[in-house]
Amino acid sequence: MKIAVIGTGYVGLVTGTCFAETGNKVVCVDIDQAKVEKLSAGQITIYEPGLEKIFLRNIKEERLRFATHLASAVEDAEIIFLALPTPPGADGAADLRYVLSVAEELGKLLKGYKVIVNKSTVPVGTADKVRAAIANNYNGEFDVVSNPEFLREGVAVDDFMKPDRVVVGTSAERARKLMSELYAPYVRQGNPIIFMDERSSELTKYAANSFLATKISFMNEIAQLCERMGADVDMVRRGIGSDERIGKRFLFSGIGYGGSCFPKDVQALVQSASEAQYDFKILKAVEKVNGMQELHLVEKIKAHYTGDLKGKHFALWGLAFKPNTDDIREAPALSIIDALLKEGATITAYDPEAMEPVKRQIGATIKYALSQYQALEGANALLIATEWSEFRTPDFERIEKLLPAKVIFDGRNLFEVAKMQSMGYRYISIGRPH
Ligand SMILES: NC(=O)c1ccc[n+]([C@@H]2O[C@H](COP(=O)([O-])OP(=O)(O)OC[C@H]3O[C@@H](n4cnc5c(N)ncnc54)[C@H](O)[C@@H]3O)[C@@H](O)[C@H]2O)c1
Repeated sequence: MKIAVIGTGYVGLVTGTCFAETGNKVVCVDIDQAKVEKLSAGQITIYEPGLEKIFLRNIKEERLRFATHLASAVEDAEIIFLALPTPPGADGAADLRYVLSVAEELGKLLKGYKVIVNKSTVPVGTADKVRAAIANNYNGEFDVVSNPEFLREGVAVDDFMKPDRVVVGTSAERARKLMSELYAPYVRQGNPIIFMDERSSELTKYAANSFLATKISFMNEIAQLCERMGADVDMVRRGIGSDERIGKRFLFSGIGYGGSCFPKDVQALVQSASEAQYDFKILKAVEKVNGMQELHLVEKIKAHYTGDLKGKHFALWGLAFKPNTDDIREAPALSIIDALLKEGATITAYDPEAMEPVKRQIGATIKYALSQYQALEGANALLIATEWSEFRTPDFERIEKLLPAKVIFDGRNLFEVAKMQSMGYRYISIGRPH
């Protein structure tokens, strides 16, 4: 099939590349000329495990190309995906400016039947708005489909190639057939393509992210209780996770959720609910808990140094909002950095992939190390903000030499408390005795 993907960020690039991988001919469009030039020269613009290899292969096989010009890209396409930003507006609702302006443009360009697929995360009713924006300039045949994306950064290629499910919202038989054909190679193991109406599909995406965010905030509140009651959140997690109704995943407590999706999607659903005259009480609490949890580690650090962080120097392992990505959008590490600097502390950070984006955002307000060990030089304590694999089994003898104070604040509960104590560390983690 011939496919155009409009917006070549995290979702657009993975979507376009993975569609090319099964033999489709894909053009990815972006208004960012520098990005398109880089991609066209075979340089990948995001760090995502496994993506570069198939990106290069499909460029070489001429199934994947990049362009800035919308008209020529959509001319041949049978299906046009919108993978555009939907950032929070001033009131927290998703800002549809990007999606609707491209829809308006598409209306001027369409000459025959095409399916326009919304892959961006958008509020209920957006398919109708996109349809209306296209129809302002075009009165031929077309269908608008909602096809929310559930990929997780860090494992995005696997998620796309072998999705748990594909959700397609459409009431048009012709669009349904094309979407079934397109996704058939990705669901060969029997994972479902779940067809539904557009509105249910749009809400499904928000419900999924909000439910996962709720699970995280719930466990973070259990961790708070554990700290006050002398229980161990790891034990509680294992105790409840083996119940199939609850499930083992997404039960880890820590320093809160971040990233480009959960914070904005929870906020947007609260706002959509309010516009529908419904007060989404649980989600408001989820947001509040997450905001507090981000700074919980800072509170522990302050308590340890009896409130005075002036002149203290910290090594920080991890900047990305989660491992295996260089994405720092809404990363808890950034809130921690900000809070510590305000208290007069200094920081040397290390992250395997996310140092460049952080340098671009906050520059020389902190120092950057070339390795996780170099970050420890001269530090009073080590802080851990992202659970990269390479942080999980570090060389403790080396740590001890570089960090004689042997103090670790772990926001991701990477190590066993008993083991750390037996090695003589002052080890402070989340929801566990220390
Ligand atoms: N990142 C994720 O993990 C993820 C997962 C599922 C869904 N989503 C949703 O997918 C959507 C896109 O997210 P993302 O993370 O890929 O965003 P992103 O910011 O990484 O990428 C968006 C891209 O769109 C481009 N763009 C903006 N206006 C354009 C225009 N008029 N024409 C062409 N290109 C234009 C930008 O230059 C950018 O490259 C959002 O709605 C997001 O909520 C994201």
